[in-house]
Amino acid sequence: MKIILFGATGMVGQGVLRECLLDPGVECVLAIGRSPTGQQNAKLREIRHDDFTDLTAIEPQLAGYDACFFCLGVSSVGMNEARYRSLTYDITMAAATTLARLNPGMVFTYVTGRGTDSSECGKVMWARVKGKTENDLLRLPFKAAYMFRPAGIQPLHGIRSKTAWVQAIYVGAAPLLSLLNRVAPKYMTTTEQVGRAMIKVARDGFPRPVLESEDINKL
Ligand SMILES: NC(=O)c1ccc[n+]([C@@H]2O[C@H](COP(=O)([O-])OP(=O)(O)OC[C@H]3O[C@@H](n4cnc5c(N)ncnc54)[C@H](OP(=O)(O)O)[C@@H]3O)[C@@H](O)[C@H]2O)c1
Repeated sequence: MKIILFGATGMVGQGVLRECLLDPGVECVLAIGRSPTGQQNAKLREIRHDDFTDLTAIEPQLAGYDACFFCLGVSSVGMNEARYRSLTYDITMAAATTLARLNPGMVFTYVTGRGTDSSECGKVMWARVKGKTENDLLRLPFKAAYMFRPAGIQPLHGIRSKTAWVQAIYVGAAPLLSLLNRVAPKYMTTTEQVGRAMIKVARDGFPRPVLESEDINKL
């Protein structure tokens, strides 16, 4: 598989990149980001890009891929709806509409979160915005699209969150998170499990378009 990865420098994206580079079935990874991953690997190529609402300048390099793992995303904490929507809905849809046009045989996977609101009209702002993003992604003419809704994600293999307060929580609670991952797979997964599940779903498909933590952990 040839894969495009967004958000490779983030906590989720670092985990997905690690699994892609280790998986013999992944031929190459094109990481598109505004900062470098700092990794050297024969399978990895990177494009630096600044405005993720407009991919026109790099479009010629985006055709011929089998899957996109979209792990770019921000926490809504401290953000108003307009700002969160622009960083969540606008950026994701700009990438996805471009990729669907250039790669009709592509499988697109998107990381949302447990509690995402498919009705788009609930009380929780982040959940509404993610719900609208999921719904519109599922309408695009991809071969298939899958929405990953993890609850907590334990970073493994030295992976760190780009968001300082998230990183502090994960470091402080590491022993508890390992325990939760074993006893409550509904609420906890790992960066390794998310990465492996994305590759598996892109390769083999999944019976439903939305995957919760327990689905991710079973794959
Ligand atoms: N962490 C969790 O426990 C968890 C749980 C459930 C769901 N999620 C979801 O997973 C997704 C990724 O989360 P994460 O924990 O990996 O976040 P993270 O560690 O903060 O990383 C965010 C990633 O998005 C990129 N990014 C952010 N804003 C950008 C912008 N304006 N333009 C271009 N790139 C931008 C960052 O790039 P730079 O390196 O350039 O900053 C980085 O690669 C989010 O949608 C989040 O809601 C996370």
